[in-house]
Amino acid sequence: MVKNGIVIFISGRGSNLNAIISAVNNGMIKYPITAVVSDRYCEGVEISKKNNLNTLIIDYKDYNSKLTFEKELIKRIKPLNPKLIVLAGFMQILSILFIKEFKSKIINIHPSLLPSFKGLNTHARAKAAGVLIHGCTVHFVNEEIDSGKIIAQGATSISKECSEIEIEKKILNIEHSLYPKVIAKLLNKEININENDLILCYYEK
Ligand code: GAR
Repeated sequence: MVKNGIVIFISGRGSNLNAIISAVNNGMIKYPITAVVSDRYCEGVEISKKNNLNTLIIDYKDYNSKLTFEKELIKRIKPLNPKLIVLAGFMQILSILFIKEFKSKIINIHPSLLPSFKGLNTHARAKAAGVLIHGCTVHFVNEEIDSGKIIAQGATSISKECSEIEIEKKILNIEHSLYPKVIAKLLNKEININENDLILCYYEK
């Protein structure tokens, strides 16, 4: 197993995982995937195994508290010495215990233009609010939900006529192109995390 690479956390379908795997395979991301960690059995686990990646299922239901679950995560991830921990549809809120352990190394992609629509059901809420521009955000993870420093955003227009499924499809397409680029730039140190600017900003129709 290759250490010092990317560790990807998933909980579901794994389409962002797939996009990241493609970017590693085509050389856009120049670091290996050290492990894929899932908090449950899910489609993403199959994608990971099919790509012969080191796949760790650490099922949150096997632990009687968030604390014991996160202690196990730390125990298993720390020896891998990840350069970057990439949350890709990981549906757990990580506590300060885990975040402190991997300070400034955890990023997440969220399906809205933060700080709008933190939390769940972002597309339904964006549609209900009648917004005309919607998108996704890559941000550092801190102890507050969907509130860490914004690294990049991808945006697109939506209209009243768009169904929730169409909106999700549009935004996912942007996620799949944006997330690997941000990961590559962070790993290549083309993004200075101590500077305060918004790093990348896309508008995709
Ligand atoms: C993505 O849309 C991602 O932005 C979202 O879950 C989906 C995962 O899809 N993440 C969150 O909502 C995190 N709060 P995927 O499993 O196909 O990559």
